[in-house]
Amino acid sequence: MTSKIWGGRFSAGPAAIMEEINVSIGFDQRLAKQDLHGSRAHCAMLVARGIVSKDDGDAIQEGLTRIEKEIAGGNFLFKRALEDVHMNIEGRLADLIGAPAGRLHTARSRNDQVATDFRMWVRAAIDTLDDEVRRLQSVLIDKAAAHADTIMPGFTHLQAAQPVTFGHHLMAYVEMFGRDRGRLMDARKRLNECPLGAGAIAGTSFPIDRALTAEKLNFDRPMANSMDAVSDRDFAVEFMAAASVLAMHMSRLAEEMVNWSSAQFGFIRFTDAFSTGSSMMPQKRNPDAAELVRGKTGRIFGGLMALLTVMKALPLTYSKDMQEDKEIVFAAFDTLELCLAATTGMVDDMKPDAKKMRAAVDGLITATDLADWVTRVLDIPFRDAHHIAGKIVKLAEGKGVGIADLSLAEMQAAEPRITKEVFSVLTPEASAASRTSFGGTAPDNVRKQVEAARARFLTLGKAP
Ligand code: ARG
Repeated sequence: MTSKIWGGRFSAGPAAIMEEINVSIGFDQRLAKQDLHGSRAHCAMLVARGIVSKDDGDAIQEGLTRIEKEIAGGNFLFKRALEDVHMNIEGRLADLIGAPAGRLHTARSRNDQVATDFRMWVRAAIDTLDDEVRRLQSVLIDKAAAHADTIMPGFTHLQAAQPVTFGHHLMAYVEMFGRDRGRLMDARKRLNECPLGAGAIAGTSFPIDRALTAEKLNFDRPMANSMDAVSDRDFAVEFMAAASVLAMHMSRLAEEMVNWSSAQFGFIRFTDAFSTGSSMMPQKRNPDAAELVRGKTGRIFGGLMALLTVMKALPLTYSKDMQEDKEIVFAAFDTLELCLAATTGMVDDMKPDAKKMRAAVDGLITATDLADWVTRVLDIPFRDAHHIAGKIVKLAEGKGVGIADLSLAEMQAAEPRITKEVFSVLTPEASAASRTSFGGTAPDNVRKQVEAARARFLTLGKAP
């Protein structure tokens, strides 16, 4: 059977393998809502400009309404022979209303149609993700507020570095996810121009009104260049780039949760809701969800590479290669939604163990506080103070004790002017409380950060 759509030129149908490689309805049916929306706007514009009669326009709109209902009710039969979502909907419209259906595609091509649909889809996906990331920030902020005073070792090189609070640590992720929302919103701003009316490549000789369709579809303006309009997929690449950074951040948090929930750290415990057992080892409580969030990152990074590779050598304008864009973006979105839900669930679920965290703070961790005290009180240049503190650390380490366990005399062997006042800065609590510089870990700072973050990130309708 020849195609109804291009049967004028073709006398035979496609080879089976041709249909197999060409067909996209299996995945691009996810664009159905956007496609209907786009068709409605296009049809209304054609009528407004006198290109299609009011009667035909009404028939088309009614037909589209019926299709919408069929799809919503699960009664729409997507046909592989009709290749993609655009031709499935147009084909069904012809079944339903007959001849006027053929007027809908006036001054339009699937090239500008798919670009428009896909932009609208990505735009909606960004809005959904923005909500979901905000929810994740919200549970992180709540946990941080509850643990503004909980002391834990902060790490560099995964070596205990300085005491920090667990709340401060969690608030770092709130910042990271805030930037993720910002990146998604930046992408949204740039994608919000309408390709519709670019036609296949060159524009159209019909007196269309591109500003009207752009407005009806909530775009800021029509895209300025018809060739760019049909060949650009930057918006999808930017989405994948922002998705990759977001996935990377979730993976880092997942990695920390894996570490923290191990018996060796013991910093957090997941309830049974987020733990899995081992089929062999009865003692195990595995953090599978965190590991999977970490593991699924590869799909999203891979998707970014795949899409960049699809686009990298395409001459202007549209090439069918670009049909490969959608599965990548759909899959990344689905994976992100799953990972965001799991991460939000885990953060909400995890029970921090303040005692274990405090116990993990070793007796050498306030070495910087010692050096700072020597600099501040004895007015010794920091580099020299570092050297003095280093000697004291070496002594403590040799004796297998903490710095604060040394006697004043032992400290004075390294620097005679040290007084007993030094001991007041050597507890982890004092150390953390002293970090009052902007952005520092002092519990009072963390409480302020928490309030500021609620206002910055959790106010609805306000982009970060
Ligand atoms: N299914 C196609 C895609 O996703 C729609 C555009 C087809 N355009 C064309 N000239 N064959 O890219």
